[in-house]
Amino acid sequence: MDEILINGGNRLSGEVRISGAKNSALPILASTILSGGECVITNLPRVVDVLTMGKLLGILGAKVSHEGNRAVIEADMIASTEAPYDLVKTMRASVLVLGPLVARCGEAKVSLPGGCAIGSRPVNLHLAGLAKLGAEISIEHGYITARAKRLKGARIYCDTPTVTGTENLMMAASLADGVTMLENAAKEPEIVDLAHFLVKRGARIHGAGTDVITIEGVPQLHGGDHDVIPDRIEAGTYLAAGAMTRGEVTVTHCHPSHLEAVLMKLREAGADVQEEKDMVHLTMPGTLKGTDVKTLPFPGFPTDMQAQMVALMSLAEGTSVITETVFESRFMHVEELRRMGADIRVEGNRLVVTGRKALTGAPVMASDLRASAGLIVAGLAADGLTQVQRVYHLDRGYERLEEKLRALGADIQRRPMTTKMQ
Ligand code: EPZ
Repeated sequence: MDEILINGGNRLSGEVRISGAKNSALPILASTILSGGECVITNLPRVVDVLTMGKLLGILGAKVSHEGNRAVIEADMIASTEAPYDLVKTMRASVLVLGPLVARCGEAKVSLPGGCAIGSRPVNLHLAGLAKLGAEISIEHGYITARAKRLKGARIYCDTPTVTGTENLMMAASLADGVTMLENAAKEPEIVDLAHFLVKRGARIHGAGTDVITIEGVPQLHGGDHDVIPDRIEAGTYLAAGAMTRGEVTVTHCHPSHLEAVLMKLREAGADVQEEKDMVHLTMPGTLKGTDVKTLPFPGFPTDMQAQMVALMSLAEGTSVITETVFESRFMHVEELRRMGADIRVEGNRLVVTGRKALTGAPVMASDLRASAGLIVAGLAADGLTQVQRVYHLDRGYERLEEKLRALGADIQRRPMTTKMQ
């Protein structure tokens, strides 16, 4: 296992190119099994989860050739409709093959993803929606089995706007017989990106990005090419790092409109944020000021930026209240930030963060992808050495993180973890 070492205190400055969005790449790759024909996907982030999804498509029988940021997938033949536990347990987003498999092949057997560090992560809404489309669902021995001769269009209301649930149902409905209406659908940019790709391949989808998506099923789709949208959470993470170190950071190849809530909160915290067509420029002219944040489904403040914001507020003037409304236990970073000197009080799903003058570097443990990002942001500004252990969590969603941060002036390196503590 590797660890990342950061000597904090360097002001970050310069430009960083944002990679493709992991959370768009995953459903787009899963959707390739909806049809035969060649799919060429570009601007894929070089992250572990994308490799894992490619492996899963191969297990299902697709021909996958994956070079750097580009993958060519041909799913003319589906040899298996089973997503095995050993793979699903490493990436819960594997559940995204459920809808496409049952729509294309009439059956699917996908291991229940199980919980993770940020919550129980149920998939009941995915299953209820597929049942509404006519699939017979059963859960045995830890596996979801879904069967349907042909899915039928239906009106589906999602109790909560689930991102991958909306994606699964949109993909399944693309090949259903008749019209499907997804109500209270999630509105994330990644859903719009998936819909764009499906429409290029012959799907009939309207309303993606709003809370009512209408899908008119078609007999089959064909292949297509697609360039994945930039990762709004990666962009937000580097901007938070720039603010944290009082630096001057420009993120390029991004869509500012995808992270308006984050930009607004960074401005409230005292940053000067200039948006251009595909870049955002941040400087920190004055002091970091505390501000309140409440995570919400898009277009609200993204839960995937909560940990990074908590790190930032740990050094801000005054007190900030951070409320997590999307997941029930997404505070794994709190204990570790406390070890760096952060003053954080947990009150149910709210954190009360009282800004300190400084944080101190410490050996800390990564737990999930975004909590780890929060620890990195804190380490960049902390006095002394921070060792972030179990960085495989970071490798799931951040492409070349230490390389990009080093290019911005961070004193950061990666090494195989030493057993002795420094
Ligand atoms: C997606 O997860 C993202 N993952 C997550 O990013 C992100 O944090 C999350 O959306 C929220 O934005 C991918 O896109 C691969 P949800 P997802 O279904 O779809 C409840 C990262 O770090 N719910 O929108 O699993 C659920 O418990 C990851 O990149 C049900 O109750 O999240 C949660 O409270 C972490 N039943 C809420 O809805 C269901 O069937 C939102 O979850 C589904 C969800």
